[in-house]
Amino acid sequence: ETKLQFIHDLPKVELHMHLEGSLEPELMFEIAKRNNVPIPFDSPEDIRKASVFNSLQEFLDLYYLGHKVFRTRRDFYDLIYAYFKRVSTGNLRHAELFFEAQEHTNRGVPLEEIVMGLHEGCVQAEKDFGITSDLILCLLRHFPPENMMDLLKQAVAFKQYIKGVGMSSSEAGCPPSLYVDIFQFAKDQGWHVTSHTGEIGPPEYVRDSIELLGIERCDHGIGARSDPAVVKLLADKKVGVTMCPISNVLLKVTESIPYSPIRQYLDANCKVCFNSDDPSYFGSTYIDENYVAVEKEMGLSVAEWVKIAQDGIDMSWVEQDERKKLQ
Ligand code: ADE
Ligand code: ZN
Repeated sequence: ETKLQFIHDLPKVELHMHLEGSLEPELMFEIAKRNNVPIPFDSPEDIRKASVFNSLQEFLDLYYLGHKVFRTRRDFYDLIYAYFKRVSTGNLRHAELFFEAQEHTNRGVPLEEIVMGLHEGCVQAEKDFGITSDLILCLLRHFPPENMMDLLKQAVAFKQYIKGVGMSSSEAGCPPSLYVDIFQFAKDQGWHVTSHTGEIGPPEYVRDSIELLGIERCDHGIGARSDPAVVKLLADKKVGVTMCPISNVLLKVTESIPYSPIRQYLDANCKVCFNSDDPSYFGSTYIDENYVAVEKEMGLSVAEWVKIAQDGIDMSWVEQDERKKLQ
């Protein structure tokens, strides 16, 4: 009881959450209705019932369907504001949030509407809840590299609103070597870089993402577990792993929370933190629920929890002189 209270009270940083993955079914319905976008569900409850997955790909198929409701600046504002409101009671101090512009711009939504709607939500949430935030433009591997590059070039006009570039969607058939030019361009713009790697991909994908793409963080990273040399590389290069314990179990990526490599990575002195990935598709499990799930199933020590909270701050892209406020 007191240990769970301690975990609840720990100052938290969320580094791996997809805004479109925080779209609760009620809001999906509301936005679909006002935009006249048909969705193949009769009620929010229907969407919840459909949110049972046997694989990452099954999840992604439902998830990208949900993206189609978004059209206007207000939609993106409502999405991000609802997220901040939901997490405002869990001592979240700072969030670096993925948005998946390609799914929207490829349907004709102007990038400006997306970025500015989200940015205005961030500004308002800081005023209302005291949570600071940054946006990460998350590229999608189910579109070709040329499409990623086109978007990045457009995004340069909104550079001041974008802290970094990430990459997600399935790794199947998409080795990191395909994206060297993309990541070089992002780094040349002064953007931070991270990538989903080693979710279903092998340890070589984690190594190549570090060595060829220069990722500063590794999103998921559990595939590294089978090659101790790659785990050591994560630790030596101080590439922190943003783990998503509930997501991994619900997408059948790991058998259970204790069977994920959390213990292995802590013992190998990797930086790790816990995150929610796509909370609305996983039974409304936000960052607090992920922390609590790990404690209930693994019982980490107080010292380990303090380290994890600190790792999250270390791995964030908050400027050094602004970090004190996160402690
Ligand atoms: N996009 C949202 N969640 C994701 C996940 N778990 N893996 C890959 N892409 C994603
Ligand atoms: Zn993710």
